[in-house]
Amino acid sequence: KHVPVICIDGPTASGKGTLAAELAMRLGYHFLDSGALYRIAALAASRAGLPIASSGEAQIASLLPQLRIEFAGNRILLNGEDMSEAIRTEENGMNASKVSALAPVRAALVALQHSFHRLPGLVADGRDMGSVIFPQAQLKVFLTASAPQRAQRRFKQLISKGISTTLDSLRADLEARDERDRTRSASPLKPAQDAVLLDNSDLSVETSVDLVLGWWQGKQ
Ligand code: C5P
Repeated sequence: KHVPVICIDGPTASGKGTLAAELAMRLGYHFLDSGALYRIAALAASRAGLPIASSGEAQIASLLPQLRIEFAGNRILLNGEDMSEAIRTEENGMNASKVSALAPVRAALVALQHSFHRLPGLVADGRDMGSVIFPQAQLKVFLTASAPQRAQRRFKQLISKGISTTLDSLRADLEARDERDRTRSASPLKPAQDAVLLDNSDLSVETSVDLVLGWWQGKQ
């Protein structure tokens, strides 16, 4: 049976997660936060003492099928332990960006991502949802925002969680991650050929949600 899919791809802190989660809620669809899977992979690899580099790719890839990864509402559990906060640090985000550049690691996470493709539908958030994982998706949005806006948003998010940081270091981190995501050979960050580009630098969350819902309704 036909499963509707909306993909929201784009660079770090462009607002993908917020937009995708809100769309999933409004439509009553499943939600896949694929970045959380790479974050879990990075955390599990560093806890296992594996090198976060190509020298560790085979070991990291073979570790992944042994992990029990569960989503419970907006919590993410690794072998029963709640990792929702631990995966969100900047350090782990940087490690996630490094492990996600390793082709065997990406391959090891494909089946898990496909398992979210279920009725009544799916909203998938990531870097390669529309280009690689769900190429059949009926709507693909490539979401961007200016670098200062993205740094500002991530800054507010971290501060509200009590994590101290500076705007300058965040912006440098974002740019380093984007550069790695764009230039890697395995599933680089780039809009799918049939993606709609949306720059939300000056848009509220509600406006972005309404725009995308309008595009979605236009396809039904
Ligand atoms: O989206 P988020 O910042 O949580 O993702 C963490 C990292 O995982 C990103 O910097 C990116 O390198 C990687 N990623 C990816 N492909 C995806 C989702 C995330 O390579 N589909």
